[in-house]
Amino acid sequence: MSKPRVLVARKTFDDVVDRLRSHFEVEANGSDDGWSQDELIRRLQGKTGVYIAGGDKIDARLLDACPELKIVSTMAVGYNNIDVAACTARGVIVTNAPDVLTETTADFGFALMMATARRITESEHFLRRGEWKQWAVTMFAGADIHGATLGVLGMGRIGAAIARRGHLGFGMPVLYHNRSRLPADQEAPLGAQWVEKDELLRRADHLIIVVPYSASSHHLIGQRELRLMKKTATLTNIARGGVVDDAALAVELQAGTIAAAGLDVFEGEPTVHPALLDCENVVLTPHIASATIATRRAMSNLAVDNLIAALTGGVPPTALNPEVLKR
Ligand code: GLV
Repeated sequence: MSKPRVLVARKTFDDVVDRLRSHFEVEANGSDDGWSQDELIRRLQGKTGVYIAGGDKIDARLLDACPELKIVSTMAVGYNNIDVAACTARGVIVTNAPDVLTETTADFGFALMMATARRITESEHFLRRGEWKQWAVTMFAGADIHGATLGVLGMGRIGAAIARRGHLGFGMPVLYHNRSRLPADQEAPLGAQWVEKDELLRRADHLIIVVPYSASSHHLIGQRELRLMKKTATLTNIARGGVVDDAALAVELQAGTIAAAGLDVFEGEPTVHPALLDCENVVLTPHIASATIATRRAMSNLAVDNLIAALTGGVPPTALNPEVLKR
């Protein structure tokens, strides 16, 4: 019997692809450039599995054009690029890569929040421009992290890992808002208190956004919300572009409505709203919160574990629509 055929649509570590090659006939993208959806559809003909990343759109159009596809495996934890319901309706398994990136992503969220509060990139730009001529008492004076109130919007695995860092490491009172409140025995070790969203916005000194993107979280933070925040507050977004209204954020940053923002994700990335590029009080990074070698390897390997299990009669470890497996 011929081996199942699998497409690796995103470049990843050679040894990780080799794991797939020992089970399947593999076509792999050797370049960091992603493929257009039409190109993806063309290359998926005759393939039963696909390895993708967060930028690859899997929708009904693609699924209908690729009827042999049995599994879509993303190496990201977020899966707003995949129409899971359309996959389920067609019996296609969808898997993502949770857990393996939680601590790494929380580290980065904290780093971005600290860089934002302590104006690290803004002051580095000043130094590199040769403008540092003298010491001054308020030069790049920012806001403290330790002891300040941490606001976490979205208390999933990554939100909890950030809350734990704030509570245990920095003595921060932690407030959070999430659709569902955590049970008391999960709140206690994080020192976390559930509040309504507007109260979170009003009370947080440092707000960090960790909610998945969906129609219901689109522009969850816009002009109205920013105007509820303290003038001294910072906002950090490591969730997804589109959760924050970037145009409104740029206006409010320029107006001094909040002190500063740290952004790792953007609406329409890799394009960044030009008004954000003009703001000094924003730290910008190119969607790298999970980017350590160890974690990117773990995410890629988990995506491969899912493909191998699904196409060899096993149970994929992190299926998003396990009901498909029961059919
Ligand atoms: C990164 O944004 C991910 O979803 O893994």
